[in-house]
Amino acid sequence: MIRTDLGTIDVNAPVPADETERQYYFMAKARAYVNELKEELGRTPTCAVTTFGCQMNAKDSEKLVGILEKIGYQLIETEDADFVIYNTCTVRENANQRVYGRLGVLNGNKRKNPHMKIALCGCMMQEPEVVEKIKTSYRFVDLIFGTHNIFKFAELVCSVFENQSMVIDIWKDTDKIVEDLPAERKYSFKSGVNIMFGCNNFCSYCIVPYVRGRERSRNPKDIIREIEALVADGVVEVMLLGQNVNSYGKNLEEPMSFAELLKEVEKIEGLERIRFMTSHPKDLSDELIEVMKNSKKICRHLHLPLQSGSTRILTAMNRRYTKEQYLALAEKIRKEIPDISITTDIIVGFPGETLEDVEETIDVVKKVQYDNAFTFIYSKRTGTPAAAMENQVPEEVVKEGFDKLLAVVQETARDRAARLQGQTLEALVEERNEQDDTLMTGRLSNNILVHFKGDESLLGKIVKVHLDECHGFYYTGSIVE
Ligand code: SAH
Ligand code: SF4
Ligand code: F3S
Repeated sequence: MIRTDLGTIDVNAPVPADETERQYYFMAKARAYVNELKEELGRTPTCAVTTFGCQMNAKDSEKLVGILEKIGYQLIETEDADFVIYNTCTVRENANQRVYGRLGVLNGNKRKNPHMKIALCGCMMQEPEVVEKIKTSYRFVDLIFGTHNIFKFAELVCSVFENQSMVIDIWKDTDKIVEDLPAERKYSFKSGVNIMFGCNNFCSYCIVPYVRGRERSRNPKDIIREIEALVADGVVEVMLLGQNVNSYGKNLEEPMSFAELLKEVEKIEGLERIRFMTSHPKDLSDELIEVMKNSKKICRHLHLPLQSGSTRILTAMNRRYTKEQYLALAEKIRKEIPDISITTDIIVGFPGETLEDVEETIDVVKKVQYDNAFTFIYSKRTGTPAAAMENQVPEEVVKEGFDKLLAVVQETARDRAARLQGQTLEALVEERNEQDDTLMTGRLSNNILVHFKGDESLLGKIVKVHLDECHGFYYTGSIVE
């Protein structure tokens, strides 16, 4: 169980052996330090958590906020807080550059507030050269930890209060999964839920398996228990998270497929919507298609990363499917679940890729008719097999292919979105519209956004919306009573 009260924990007693208990002990200890700081400052100390990267990192940040709030910090949006943490991503080089750029600004803030604490964590910190660089050039950083030991954040915060010098704790890998630690949700009505950690696929361009470690699935009982508790706390939609959810459960003591897990999640009363990310095409089973088709709760959206439409490039990427296999799979899904949205990720400029290869990718985009596609320019990640390949593609060639692809992707997405005009569909009301505060924004089951007149009393509710007008990638609509 997640503990709500730290008051009963004796910080003078020996440190408990059980990992969850141990971390609650350190939360109690850290809370005493934060209390001292509060007295010194004459106000409640503040914290800010900035997330780079994917949904996994967003979920990890919620765990960090959960602990920071428990030990007495107040969460604020701006980075002039007393404790600032960057949860980093390293999937592409520009993700790293953004972190270094913003660290300079933080240094300025810390000069004005010397008691300020700066922490860095996440995928980028799993790279030894990054940690070296921070140790030498960013010495004002107080704490660095990685992806495998995020569960011991409370313990690390204690070390920061007890040490003057930079605290660094990075693990190479882990087989540990620590349950029942607190998390603070960004949205009261929806939540990510980790079902597995790490990745075993080693796509040749990708750094994730090196920084997130080997694939480990959470026990289904723990997953269900977490979702039940979330639902009891007002959550109506969960997003099941894993780098390759289709291989969920293979290494459990009692193996279980992802489709079987979905059937269990579906049974949870009060839960209205189920999403998941990400599905690797090579592991997507007929059983999963069947379960999705018959489900009342699984959203009509599948993110199915293509990466390339050229079999030659797919082979070099170690994706383990061909263009034809991917097309056959997409066709089967569209046939079985006609109202589904399919979205994808595509990389342009992988070593050895020619404009003919990009044409193959464009061909797949046209055939599959993606509802949306995230297109990325290949980024060389040190340590991955692709980084050592000799035939890196010149920038101009990459750019030409990228622009051509993007034009087709946008045209296809626009056509696809327009098909819903005039329909009345259910939307989960997620937030007030930023540009026009008389409007609320909802998300359709197929992940498309719709804006309609309404107020904040609708937040977290599922409403029926008539889709009046398509504006490229989103709709304006009106609530149907
Ligand atoms: N596990 C997920 C992807 C995680 S990374 C999957 O297999 O789909 C998210 C996306 O980043 C990938 O789908 C890929 O398109 C992109 N990506 C990963 N490594 C990259 C690199 N080195 N350069 C450019 N894009 C990359
Ligand atoms: Fe990276 Fe491939 Fe694993 Fe996705 S499946 S995280 S792209 S190695
Ligand atoms: Fe980035 Fe790590 Fe996610 S590298 S994409 S934050 S798993």
